[in-house]
Amino acid sequence: MNESNQTPKIIQHVASGQMCCDPDWEAAYKRFETPEEEIAKFIGRLKRFGFESLPKDARINEIFCGRGGGLVALERLGFTDVEGTDLSDTLLAEYRGAATLHLADCLCMPFDDDSYDIVIVQGGLHHLPKIPDDLDRCLAEVKRILKPDGTFYVIEPWRTPFLNFVHFVTDQPIMRKLYAKGDALAAMTECERVTYENWLTHPKEIMAVFDSHFKAQKANSSWGKLAYAGTPIS
Ligand SMILES: C[S@@+](CC[C@H](N)C(=O)[O-])C[C@H]1O[C@@H](n2cnc3c(N)ncnc32)[C@H](O)[C@@H]1O
Repeated sequence: MNESNQTPKIIQHVASGQMCCDPDWEAAYKRFETPEEEIAKFIGRLKRFGFESLPKDARINEIFCGRGGGLVALERLGFTDVEGTDLSDTLLAEYRGAATLHLADCLCMPFDDDSYDIVIVQGGLHHLPKIPDDLDRCLAEVKRILKPDGTFYVIEPWRTPFLNFVHFVTDQPIMRKLYAKGDALAAMTECERVTYENWLTHPKEIMAVFDSHFKAQKANSSWGKLAYAGTPIS
């Protein structure tokens, strides 16, 4: 991330070195997209969620934020009160920008009740080892830290015909040789195979957990992604 030379302010709530994903996964994640490609993708997603018309002083926490491309996207859209949370100190250290970062476990978040207007997750929930139990713990935490009128925005992989096609193509050895991005995606999928497959094969259980904590404002699955927005159920 090269948004500025500002080194990130990281508040450490757990011991460092608690990577949930192995070094091979992190290496593949870093070569899947350049930071600029990733930020452009995040800006597109946020615009499709309608972020351009949200108050720019909304207090936002992007959980499972990784190296912070989503935080940079929020900053470029004009948001001024942005925080990120992740368990990987090595990924957090790559972020450059003004957001406050928290090295913390998203299953047990060190934040006050009713403290955020918006919580976002992009491609983090499918890393949780136990579905539905860990998902339930995480979403209970999101609901707890969101203000009653806050909103939870989610983008996660979702089994659609397009996703099946992408995996079929990127699993072909010839494609992995010829197409670097496809090789990086296949390498990431291999490293996270167990949690990823577990996520993709339990759509009903996952939606039931969402429904137990949030009232859906949006729930679309297309192009291999779930795009969800929901408000806390009181
Ligand atoms: C696929 S990456 C997504 C990163 C970022 N949202 C993006 O789209 O580029 C998943 C992230 O989840 C983090 N992670 C996994 N389990 C976590 C947990 N229990 N608490 C906090 N972060 C976690 C990993 O360190 C990793 O950065």
